[in-house]
Amino acid sequence: MEVVIVPDAKAGGELIAEAIADLVRRKPEALLGVATGSTPLPVYEALAGTVRSGGVDVSRARICQLDEYVGLPAGHPESYRSVVLREVVEPLGLGEDAFMGPDGTAADVQAACEAYDRALSEAGGVDLQLLGIGTDGHIGFNEPCSSLASRTRIKTLTQQTREDNARFFDSLEEVPHHVITQGIGTILEARHLVLLATGEGKADAVAQSVEGPVSALVPASALQLHPHATVVVDEAAASKL
Ligand code: GLP
Repeated sequence: MEVVIVPDAKAGGELIAEAIADLVRRKPEALLGVATGSTPLPVYEALAGTVRSGGVDVSRARICQLDEYVGLPAGHPESYRSVVLREVVEPLGLGEDAFMGPDGTAADVQAACEAYDRALSEAGGVDLQLLGIGTDGHIGFNEPCSSLASRTRIKTLTQQTREDNARFFDSLEEVPHHVITQGIGTILEARHLVLLATGEGKADAVAQSVEGPVSALVPASALQLHPHATVVVDEAAASKL
């Protein structure tokens, strides 16, 4: 695992955007796994800037989603599908046909999870998966105690994660209890994992993930098992390393 400490979130965003641009220059049809939350936004802004200035042609790249809320109506502005289309797909000048995600509105959620795992494999697998980290060390929505071999499946959010994500909704009550997430085993199949963490609030989770034992109690520690994992942290998130 490579740990890169950058001065701030903007620098982290630029570094990762350049890594993504490099990948797409080598492999124009790359499948890019993206994450939601506030942390990766500087990556998407920097990458969209590079695209606008002609630094990379992403027109053949494909974008796939890490996780999704269950039960939000289609088109809800905070469904991760809506967020990824708004924050990533559209700014990169791509269309919905370049996007894949699990169906959080499916009547049969289990079948939707299995279908998404299959779709990722059939698309050739994820070339680069960008990850954030929860304050409890979760990746995607794999909360502590998730199996390190897990596949895409339905999970129940912890109260902590619902509270952390309540800022995107009008009230805590509106935050769904259930989600679909790529499993840790699914995430580990991506060819390159890039985790970005910024801010003091992530310092404990980063230290446990990078320097602690590999444990289902800290899902991001599974990155230690991956042959090509990069952890990009700002000074604040690195403060407990
Ligand atoms: C959610 C997402 C994760 C993300 C986490 C942290 O739980 N499912 O993928 O990493 O939030 O979000 P933020 O970057 O806003 O702290």
